[in-house]
Amino acid sequence: MNNLLFNVENEVGVITINRPKALNALNSETLSELKQLVSEIEERKDIKVVIVIGSGEKAFVAGADIAEMVNGTPVEGRQMCLLAHETFAKLENIPQVTIAAVNGYALGGGCELSMACDIRIAADNAKFAQPEVNLGILPGFGGTQRLPRLVGKGRAKELIFTTDQIDAQEAYRIGLANKVVPKDELMSTCLKMAEKIISKASYAVALAKSAINTGMDVDLASGCRFESDLFGLAFSTNDKKEGMSAFLEKRKAALKDF
Ligand code: HXC
Repeated sequence: MNNLLFNVENEVGVITINRPKALNALNSETLSELKQLVSEIEERKDIKVVIVIGSGEKAFVAGADIAEMVNGTPVEGRQMCLLAHETFAKLENIPQVTIAAVNGYALGGGCELSMACDIRIAADNAKFAQPEVNLGILPGFGGTQRLPRLVGKGRAKELIFTTDQIDAQEAYRIGLANKVVPKDELMSTCLKMAEKIISKASYAVALAKSAINTGMDVDLASGCRFESDLFGLAFSTNDKKEGMSAFLEKRKAALKDF
């Protein structure tokens, strides 16, 4: 991989978007590498949580690569958009929990990448924005869809139409960031959260993720029906037996993967 770093330790995979000279801007090659890597991660039972971070001190990801787009044709623009949609949808729906460690600018496609993760932890120097309409384009990596789902239609429209950059505290206030931490504590906070999630019944966590993701895109009754199917499925696991027995026997549950 030319543009990504990846390492796994204690069941946590860390993906680093590694183009610091371009503030980690996402070009097609980076998106293709990310798509491939996420497909590989999806199959790995030894990874329970994935953290996504940007390389360097300044940026998570400063957007799609403007240098690549400047002379692009409509067909190329659409292809880049579709590649990002496939990549981010894959990331959004892998069974592992994903955490965006937002360590600086999360602009345009960077904000959109963070929104394709389950949870966003922002360093106190993080800045979020959707600046696309300054460039004569609109958010094209899912921003017009995921931002309103996260912060509501009115706030999403304001952010996209004004291109206002918001700091980590404001992102937290409107529900875009789950937490704000001093930048030196960003990775340790993410790892601590990862450790907590890993200590739970991982298959149940994956089912809950699937129920939430699917439910957000369908009506309430269909979502609840899907939830009951997954709830039934959870009854097939050893973890359900162990978790409930341990509670009743007043001991700590020895939860595994299934
Ligand atoms: C390509 C980028 C880039 C980007 C920064 N760089 N962002 N290259 N694409 N999105 C490059 C700069 O050209 C520069 O390269 C180097 O990174 C450092 O950036 P500077 O601008 O010199 O840094 P600074 O003055 O600190 O400003 C930081 C910044 C600014 C505020 C983040 O770089 C900026 O506004 N970037 C663009 C943000 C943006 O508009 N993002 C949305 C992109 S569109 P050199 O070679 O000069 O050192 C998008 C659409 C998604 O994301 C959907 C598409 C289908």
